Amino acid sequence: METVLVTGAGGYIGSVLVEKLLNHGYHVRAVDRFFFGKDKLAANDRLQVIVEDSRKLSPENFKGVDYVIDLVALSNDPSAELFRDHTWAINYTGRVNCARLARQAGCRRYILPSSASIYGYQDQLVDETSPTNPLTVYASANEKTEQEVLAMVDDSFVVTVLRQATVYGFSRRMRFDLAVNGMTYGCWKYGRLPLMRDGKQYRPMVHIQDATDVMLMLLECDSGPVNGQIFNVGGNDNNFQIEDLARRVLDAVSERTGRQIEIEWYGDPDNRSYRLSFDKIQKTLGWQPGWTVEKGVNGIIDALEEKLIDRTPETITLEWYQSLTYWYKIIRDVEKYGGILDIE
Ligand SMILES: NC(=O)c1ccc[n+]([C@@H]2O[C@H](COP(=O)([O-])OP(=O)(O)OC[C@H]3O[C@@H](n4cnc5c(N)ncnc54)[C@H](O)[C@@H]3O)[C@@H](O)[C@H]2O)c1
Repeated sequence: METVLVTGAGGYIGSVLVEKLLNHGYHVRAVDRFFFGKDKLAANDRLQVIVEDSRKLSPENFKGVDYVIDLVALSNDPSAELFRDHTWAINYTGRVNCARLARQAGCRRYILPSSASIYGYQDQLVDETSPTNPLTVYASANEKTEQEVLAMVDDSFVVTVLRQATVYGFSRRMRFDLAVNGMTYGCWKYGRLPLMRDGKQYRPMVHIQDATDVMLMLLECDSGPVNGQIFNVGGNDNNFQIEDLARRVLDAVSERTGRQIEIEWYGDPDNRSYRLSFDKIQKTLGWQPGWTVEKGVNGIIDALEEKLIDRTPETITLEWYQSLTYWYKIIRDVEKYGGILDIE
């Protein structure tokens, strides 16, 4: 059976993707620093876990690998603004190097899960041929990575870029810093829906099961139509103005729980706004998303009620990286003889 190397495998998307690949019979080489914990991937005979920094990958890591899905990143705008140099090193240099190593090792396909945020601000519907407009370090790093990995394409090294809409839905490495997920939690827990000002901004959404289905499909489809191609990942019905999205989440939670819910505005007006055409993925792969916001919201509430997830600090990506770096400094200062109170 074929082997897929997944970077960022312990992350929000990675942990769902790895389970899906294993369920489809693949061998998976899961590379991650596991900043969000090692418990997100269930043991499996076909799963090989490699605790390694993506910036330190070597040819050895790619031996016997057929496909690479390069998810690793500091994965949102606020984290990237705070850790700018690290973002360039991990999201750009590290991923370009990963693609190069994959090509040299004879891997057949390389998938770059990029982000629709590279469209930044657009006042009309845009598609993959439209000029991009990256407004943040995170988006700029994605754009440069796209350009360099696409330049490596040839007949035996199939490269595909996915510009994913904002993802939502349940994952064992839960992210409540994503729009639908955070709204759902606020409504369910406190009866308050956090809504980013001014609510008029457009943002496309895609469910995590749909997004990972596309990655799986790209391993198995004919290479011709996808080699060297960029695809927006989402559906034409899922371009939301954020205040309309909020209303859908609010209605779904109140229907499920019977609770009264208020809107709680936060932040400065968001200057990112884009509506995307998803015609290309539909026409090329015959794919469109199967999940609705309401179904995704209910899936998150199921997981909350079953106590599979909660809004712990590591579910807010920026807060977690800030906490880790804060505690690392303190622990380094007080550690002696291999411990704190326990010593060797
Ligand atoms: N979640 C979304 O809405 C969304 C939308 C568009 C694009 N994306 C992209 O999809 C990818 C995955 O996003 P996610 O939501 O799963 O993010 P995530 O933060 O949950 O996962 C990233 C993973 O990378 C790991 N990691 C970070 N730096 C590392 C390093 N130097 N070496 C090894 N491992 C490292 C982390 O431990 C984490 O498990 C990212 O590239 C992100 O930019 C995500």
